[in-house]
Amino acid sequence: MSDQYGGASAPAPRKVTVPDLVAMKRDQKRITMMTAYDAAFARLVDQAGIDVILVGDSLGMVVLGYPTTVPVTMDDMVRHAAAVSRGASRPLLVGDMPFGSYQAGPADALHNAARFLKEAGMDSVKVEGGAEVVETVRALTANGIAVMAHVGLTPQRVAQLGGFKVQAKTARAARKLIDDALALEDAGAFSIVLESVPAPVAALATEHLRIPTIGIGAGVDCDGQVLVLHDVLGLFGDFKPKFAKRYADLGAQVVGALREFDREVREGSFPTADETFTMKESELLSLQRSMAQQKAG
Ligand code: KIV
Repeated sequence: MSDQYGGASAPAPRKVTVPDLVAMKRDQKRITMMTAYDAAFARLVDQAGIDVILVGDSLGMVVLGYPTTVPVTMDDMVRHAAAVSRGASRPLLVGDMPFGSYQAGPADALHNAARFLKEAGMDSVKVEGGAEVVETVRALTANGIAVMAHVGLTPQRVAQLGGFKVQAKTARAARKLIDDALALEDAGAFSIVLESVPAPVAALATEHLRIPTIGIGAGVDCDGQVLVLHDVLGLFGDFKPKFAKRYADLGAQVVGALREFDREVREGSFPTADETFTMKESELLSLQRSMAQQKAG
């Protein structure tokens, strides 16, 4: 037996939890994470067997059409995260705290993180940053909110970093990144994203941390990997980082399908009888008679 997408159909599997991810690191099982922003794609990501869905603030770039993630608001994130939680049941769900929702300090961060859990059905939240967010991570985890950290290239700081550039390329910067990661682990983070860092730096961080590392542009030695859904499916062409492997070209398929619709409508070959409703001949005759009488006078 298989489902409509060719996967085996079986009873709904148990939901992935935060302790499951830590156990996967211990058991040397690789973790898969993918972004999603709506119920339809969340359902498909779930069916593919992915362990974690990140409702990333990449939403701003790949869905909302902004040039960076900076303009994304808490309301944007809650609306999309709630849709994702209606679509997915097995993956662990992570809501990405947008720029300005946690930088003012732990009280603000607690208020906004709670919105992800209460209004959007998320299991956990993610915050970008190193030493400067350690106290915020400590406050969130002390109050029962599971936190995924994110170091390396932190897109919310793109202006300060001077663009989407590889980070931690010197021994000194790499040492700071690893020290930050260890401090975030100590503050209670359950996992950490390493974005755009040299593979040997990510490998060393992975070796020294007890919590799992999830890499994006950080090499194969991380405990797991994450990519942005629209990059994977070929639905976003504005910006293509080196690490963003395209597994499908749905963008081309979408344009092809829409061009066919456009042509068929213009030439009158859509809709056909198969896509059309009709009515009883007697009802039609009666309608035509009444319209003719009205026209006659
Ligand atoms: O917003 C996002 O999609 C992310 C991933 C790139 C990790 O933070």
